[in-house]
Amino acid sequence: MIHHRDNGALLLVGDALEVLSAAPEKSVNCIVTSPPYFGLRDYGTPGQYGLEATPAAYVETMRALFDQALRVLADDGTLWLNLGDSYYSGKGEPTQPDEKNAARRMGKRVLDGPTWGLPRKNLIGIPWRVAFALQDDGWILRNEIIWHKPNAMPQSVTDRLSVRRESLFLFSKKPKYWFDLNAIREPHSAPNRKAGANAFRARDVSHARTATGAYTGPRPEGKNPGDVWSISTRPFPRAHFATFPVDLPLRCITAGCKPGGIVLDPFSGAGTTGLAARQLGRHYIGIDLNPEYHDMAMERFAKQDKAAA
Ligand SMILES: C[S@@+](CC[C@H](N)C(=O)[O-])C[C@H]1O[C@@H](n2cnc3c(N)ncnc32)[C@H](O)[C@@H]1O
Repeated sequence: MIHHRDNGALLLVGDALEVLSAAPEKSVNCIVTSPPYFGLRDYGTPGQYGLEATPAAYVETMRALFDQALRVLADDGTLWLNLGDSYYSGKGEPTQPDEKNAARRMGKRVLDGPTWGLPRKNLIGIPWRVAFALQDDGWILRNEIIWHKPNAMPQSVTDRLSVRRESLFLFSKKPKYWFDLNAIREPHSAPNRKAGANAFRARDVSHARTATGAYTGPRPEGKNPGDVWSISTRPFPRAHFATFPVDLPLRCITAGCKPGGIVLDPFSGAGTTGLAARQLGRHYIGIDLNPEYHDMAMERFAKQDKAAA
C-alpha cells in the first residue's frame, strides 16, 4: 500500500517480505537497513519481526526476506545490513529498564524465555548467524564493518565488558559491483608539526614506487576509511526504536549507490536511510509495517526540504 510518494521518496506500508515479493527484479541499486534485532523489543505491531521463539527462527525470517532482496537488487548492487547482537539472559523478565529512553516500551523479551538450550548469559552471535545464512544463499560477504558508538550508554554489568559496537555487513550480489571508494576516502592525518621537515618528507610520495612503477605510498585522494566506523548515536525520542545516525547511511549510500540510483530500506522506521538518500540525490523506497513511522519520516523529509530551500 502506498503511503506517500513524492519525487524523492516512495513509502510503502506492509510486511517487508510480502512487499518485496511483489517488487520487480533488479529494480533497486542499493539496500541500507537495520531490521528489528532479535528479542530486543516489542514494536506493538502484529506481524513484526524480532520476536521469533528461537535464534534459528529469527535467522529463517531474515533469510526469507533477504532472499527476496537479492532478487530485487540490481546485479551491481550492494546491501548494507546493520545488526546488533543480544545476550541470552534466561531470567524470565527484563532485568533493566530501557536506558536509552525511559518512555520506550519494553515488552517481555524472548531472550528471557527459558526455551532454547543455550546456557544462560551467552552472547548469541546473531549478526554472524544471519551473515552465514545469507552467504549460504548466494550473497557475497565483503566486510564486517564495526560500527563503534563513542557515546554508547554505560552498562551496569560487572562480569563482562560493555558493548559499544554493532555490526554493519557489506554484501554484494555479484563479484563485481558499483563501489565508489574515492567518494568516502578520508584525509591523511595532518603532519606532525613537532617532527618538522621530516614529517613532510614522509608525505613526499614521489619515490613511493616499486621497480615496475606501481604506486605504494599514500594515495593523494585520501585514505581508505577502513572497517571501524566511529559514529555517535543521536537520540530520536519520538520513535519507539533506535534510529541509526544519518551519518551511517550517508556513507553507505555515497559508496554503494550510483548517482541518481534507487536506495531501498525494507525496515524504514523513521526514514533515516531516506533522509540520507534524498540528501545525496538518490531516490528512496521505504517499507514499514507501521504507517505512523512513515508519518515521522515524511515530517523529517519536509524539514529537510525546508532547510535546503
Ligand atoms: C530498528 S527499526 C528501523 C529504524 C530505521 N533504521 C531508522 O533509523 O529510522 C525497525 C523497523 O522495522 C519495522 N518492522 C518490524 N517488522 C516488520 C515487518 N515484518 N515488515 C516491515 N517492517 C517491519 C518496525 O516497525 C520498525 O520501524
